Amino acid sequence: MLSSIERQFVRTQRPLYGHLVALLEAAIAKGDLPSGTRVPPERTLAERLRISRTTVVSAYRELESRGLLRGYVGRGTFVCAAPEPEGTPFAWRGKIAAAALRWSDSTLRDIVRHSSDARLLSLAAGEPAIDKFPNEAFQDAVAHVLRTDPAAAWRHGPTEGQPALRDAIAERYAVPRDSVLILSGAQQGLDLLARCLIDPGDAVVMDRPGYLGAIQSFRAAGAKLVGWDVLRADIDELEDLLVRYRPKLIYTNPTFQNPTGATLPIRTRRELLMLAQRYRVPIVEDATYRDLYFTDPPPPSLRELDDHNLVIYLNSFSKVMAPGLRLGWIAAAPSIVDQIAIIKQRMDPHTPNLVQLAIGRLIRQGAFDAHLRTIRLEHAKRCAQMIGAIQRHVPRGALRLGRPSGGLYLWCRLAPGLSANALLDRALASGVAFVAGTAFYPDPAGDSDLRLCFTSVLPSQMEESIRKLGGCIADARLSQSA
Ligand SMILES: Cc1ncc(COP(=O)(O)O)c(C=O)c1O
Repeated sequence: MLSSIERQFVRTQRPLYGHLVALLEAAIAKGDLPSGTRVPPERTLAERLRISRTTVVSAYRELESRGLLRGYVGRGTFVCAAPEPEGTPFAWRGKIAAAALRWSDSTLRDIVRHSSDARLLSLAAGEPAIDKFPNEAFQDAVAHVLRTDPAAAWRHGPTEGQPALRDAIAERYAVPRDSVLILSGAQQGLDLLARCLIDPGDAVVMDRPGYLGAIQSFRAAGAKLVGWDVLRADIDELEDLLVRYRPKLIYTNPTFQNPTGATLPIRTRRELLMLAQRYRVPIVEDATYRDLYFTDPPPPSLRELDDHNLVIYLNSFSKVMAPGLRLGWIAAAPSIVDQIAIIKQRMDPHTPNLVQLAIGRLIRQGAFDAHLRTIRLEHAKRCAQMIGAIQRHVPRGALRLGRPSGGLYLWCRLAPGLSANALLDRALASGVAFVAGTAFYPDPAGDSDLRLCFTSVLPSQMEESIRKLGGCIADARLSQSA
C-alpha cells in the first residue's frame, strides 16, 4: 500500500497536503483502502514521500475530521468509512465504532423492508398467514388485561418476563417455569446467547445453509462459523467438525428448518445429542417452526430427548402468530437464564408487558392452540398452491424444489448457470421479492439456491407472484443462451 501511494504521489503545484488528502480519499472511495486498513505511520509516510511530517499529520487530521480515518493511541490510524456525499454537514459515519462497521450486513433488514414495500409482492419475508391472526381473541385479551389489572401492563416488569406468560409457556410446553425467559423475539435470544456464550475466535457449528440472523449474531460476537450440511445431516461429518474445531456451541433449527424446510429424523437427533454430550458442547435448538406441521407432528425436540441439560431451547410467537408481536422465549439452565437476563436488562429492560399478558391469556384460554390448528391447514393449502403455480409458470427444469411437511418455506435450486442474485435483481425490477440462497451460508456459496415463503402473500396474489418470478426465470434463461 505504501508503494502504491508513493507511485501515485507526484509532485504538483497544488499544496502537498491537499494533494495527499485527495489521493487517500480516492483510494478509500475506490475500495483500494478498505475500512479497517491501517494507514502508514505519519513519520514513515513522510520519509517515503520526502515531505514534512507536518504535511502528513495535517492530511490525516483533515481525513479524520471528514470521518474517513480514525487514529487510536498506541495502535495507529485506520480507514474507518467511505466518503459521504458532498455537502453532508457532519461526518457521522466516521464516528461509528470499528466493531459496528466490521459486521454491518444489511440483508435481514432489506428482507423486512421488501416485505413492507407495498409495491412488491414479497415471497421473501418469513411470515405466517397474518391475515388469519385471531384479532378478536387478541382484542378481548388486551381488553381483559386493561380492565382487570392495568398496572401490570403499565408498570415496569421483570426482565425474565411476566409471571403469567412464563407460567402459561411452562405448562403448554412442559418446561420448568424458572427456566423460561421472555424475549422481544427469538432474534434477540440469538444475540443474547451469542453475547453470553461466545468469545472472539470461538467456533460455532451451525446448520449449512442456516438461519441468516443466527449467522449475523454469532459473527458479530466474533465467532468462527463452521457449517454442518443440514440436508445431508451426516453424523460422522458432525463428529469430525467437533473434533477438528472444538466448538463452543452447536446451533441448529432441526424442525422445518429455515431455509430448507428439512426436519432431522429422530435417530439423527439422538446421535446429535450423544455427540454433544460426549464432546461437552451445548446445543442451541431453535424451535421457531416446530408447531407449524401440516398434518403430522414432528419427532420429539432435542430438548425433550436431552437427558443432560445441554440444550438451550429457543422459540418465538413470530412464526405461529405474527412477527409484529416481537415476542419470543428461551428455556435454559437457570445459570444461563440468569446471565442472559443481566445482558438483556442492559439493552431492553423487559419485553412489553401488554403483549406478554395478552398472549399468556390466549394460551391459557386455548385460543392459541385453536389458532395453530387454523394456520396448519391454511399453510398446507398455500404450500400446495405455490407448488402448483410453480409447475404452471416456471419453465420446466429451471427450478428444483423439496416438498416440506411444515414450516413456511420452499427451498429451490436453479438450473446450472443461473444465478439467484442476478435473478433477484430482475425479480425486484418486476415487483416480486425472494431471498437469494447466499444469505444463508456462513461461507461464499448458495448462488444457485433461493428461498420462497409460501405464506407471506395472500392466496389471491400467489398466482401473480409466481407468474412474475417464472417470467424472470424464463428471461434469465434466454439471456443465458443468447
Ligand atoms: C430460525 C429462526 N430463528 C429465529 C428467527 C427470529 O424470529 P423473531 O421474529 O422471533 O425474532 C427467525 C426468523 O426468521 C428464524 O427463521
